[in-house]
Amino acid sequence: MGIKGQITFPGDKSISHRSLMFAALADGESRISNLSTGADLQSTRGCLEACGIHIRNDGDDVVVKGGQFSDPDQPLDCGNSGTTTRLLLGLLAGQGITATLVGDDSLSSRPMNRILDPLSQMGLQSDSNDGKLPVTIHKSNLKGIDYQSPVASAQVKSALLLAGLGTNGETSVTEPILSRDHTEKMLKGLGANLSNNGLSSTISPLTSPLSNFNLAVPGDPSTAAFFAAAAAIVSGSDLTFNRVLRNPTRIGFYLALNKMGAGMDCLETWEEAGETIGKLNIFHQPLKGITITKEDVPGLIDELPIIAILATQAHGKTEVRGAEELRVKECDRIHAVCSNLKKMGADIEELDDGFIIQGPTPLEGARVATFHDHRIAMAFSIAGIVSKGNVILDHPKCASISYPEFYDELERLQL
Ligand code: S3P
Repeated sequence: MGIKGQITFPGDKSISHRSLMFAALADGESRISNLSTGADLQSTRGCLEACGIHIRNDGDDVVVKGGQFSDPDQPLDCGNSGTTTRLLLGLLAGQGITATLVGDDSLSSRPMNRILDPLSQMGLQSDSNDGKLPVTIHKSNLKGIDYQSPVASAQVKSALLLAGLGTNGETSVTEPILSRDHTEKMLKGLGANLSNNGLSSTISPLTSPLSNFNLAVPGDPSTAAFFAAAAAIVSGSDLTFNRVLRNPTRIGFYLALNKMGAGMDCLETWEEAGETIGKLNIFHQPLKGITITKEDVPGLIDELPIIAILATQAHGKTEVRGAEELRVKECDRIHAVCSNLKKMGADIEELDDGFIIQGPTPLEGARVATFHDHRIAMAFSIAGIVSKGNVILDHPKCASISYPEFYDELERLQL
């Protein structure tokens, strides 16, 4: 018994979105392989195509021809994807585009003022539904600003840096805690004039297009986290991840899992296109509870639902604080995790900014509400492997927002 074997994951979702967008700003054709297979990427691709960017499949690769953006004829459908929406708001504002962005019910309930407020300080004219989608941006002359972001958000930082490519003067963004830094790394690597100083990044307007590129996107560590958790809690498990992203701003979950006592060996690491990539082996060992603080949160923000599942199987107390951002993700993930785990018999206390779990507790089967959130669906599928009765998800298919192959791969690896 156990979760065993080797697995190679589709490309990291954050890097995949950025690679399509940055290729659109580049001179000539860029070739991207191992792009994320998630539906969110189709949203980004569709929006870019609607803005006049040519994108084609070539075998398993995607080829993007950089060029001039044009105003779309129809509203841009961002689907369920916050990254598509927020990064495009900045990018399109910088390119002088007039466009309306729309999304599904979940995306239409998420806050956009965190992007629209600083963009309006830069001079952007926009209309929104009280800070939510639909949002219309109007072609405006932008000026650079020096912005102190109240939230540690890579989406906010990236949107402003992308807008800063098309402004008059420099744009600086400072965040309270470092969030994922793919935008900075990639833009610098492609020739943008961008510098980092501690928690601040400063960018100058582009004077010529970015360089075109060939990129094999590293495997997604946030998707891999669900499988790592399964291997950690199912006895007899021994799982190897090939070519997974090991960027220091993205390994928070793996540091936490290690602290909990899971078996983990990094078999190999190497660098590709400015990112660290690794081959990682995870195996079952008894787990203990840990504390996660506000400073830790940006490094494992998307992995907190699966950390909650792990905590129910760990000895002692796990406390997560400073994670109020979870309330404005694809659903209110604090509520989703706490209400579903309570149904399964876990000892969990809901906090405004996190949760406290006492473990270990056996988990009962239950009907789980996913709230159409891919990470809630995947986290509770893993809980279902160790629960006494069946876990029945109301909308299992929502996993395909980030990982359509999730259930097939999980079945393949369960021996
Ligand atoms: C992302 C940033 C994070 C993360 C999201 C992807 C990105 O959001 O939760 O899944 O690609 O920039 P925030 O920056 O809003 O925390």
